[in-house]
Amino acid sequence: MKTLALDFSQLSQPEIYKLLIGAIVPRPIAFVSTVSAEGVGNLAPFSFFNAVSSYPPCLMISIARKSTGEKKDTLKNIEETGTFVVNCVSEWMVEPMNQASADYPYGVDEMAQVGLTAIPSVKVKASRVKEAAIQMECEVYRILEIGDGLSVGSTTLVVGRILLMHVAEAVYDQGKIRIDALKPIARLAGSSYSKLGEVFDLARPKI
Ligand SMILES: Cc1cc2nc3c(=O)[nH]c(=O)nc-3n(C[C@H](O)[C@H](O)[C@H](O)COP(=O)(O)O)c2cc1C
Repeated sequence: MKTLALDFSQLSQPEIYKLLIGAIVPRPIAFVSTVSAEGVGNLAPFSFFNAVSSYPPCLMISIARKSTGEKKDTLKNIEETGTFVVNCVSEWMVEPMNQASADYPYGVDEMAQVGLTAIPSVKVKASRVKEAAIQMECEVYRILEIGDGLSVGSTTLVVGRILLMHVAEAVYDQGKIRIDALKPIARLAGSSYSKLGEVFDLARPKI
């Protein structure tokens, strides 16, 4: 295979971003609900998201600065309260998920704006999204600044310890998640998304 060597020290931040979101695919989407210290809810999607560890059970989301250099509302709320909820995005939630990514002013709760239903969590203050088949209540485990905290492209990596996972009965089967019922949506580059394609099994090799 003939390759191009793209030296990131020679590329601009937008060029690097485009390559990353095209190369690191498909990305799951964390639909993150938070609440401010004053009690105002917030909801936004994040695809720089993954599982981190199972003991302690941790996940991560990476929250970039706004183009103005300001912190996003999700990050402000997480820093204020130390907690958040990750709601999984299924096929039936794509439209409201996309709507919730608009830059609503601080203090506007996207949950109500996009027609989703807020229900109380058990261990954290932030509400969870009733329509999501999986909701994970988290507390901050670590917060790590990546970059200078001002430039576009610099981010805050939030590692959350999962305290409680709510799973819809329809997607739960004897300790496992039914992927056919979960119908997850993944983020690709630009405004592209993908549904689950062909699923196949591959046994681990034995040596
Ligand atoms: C599918 C999708 C994935 C996104 N992933 C991220 C991400 O990983 N990190 C990020 O900073 N913004 C991401 N965004 C943009 C945020 O959702 C957007 O900036 C939002 O307005 C932040 O809301 P907030 O200010 O209420 O926290 C994503 C948007 C969409 C639609």
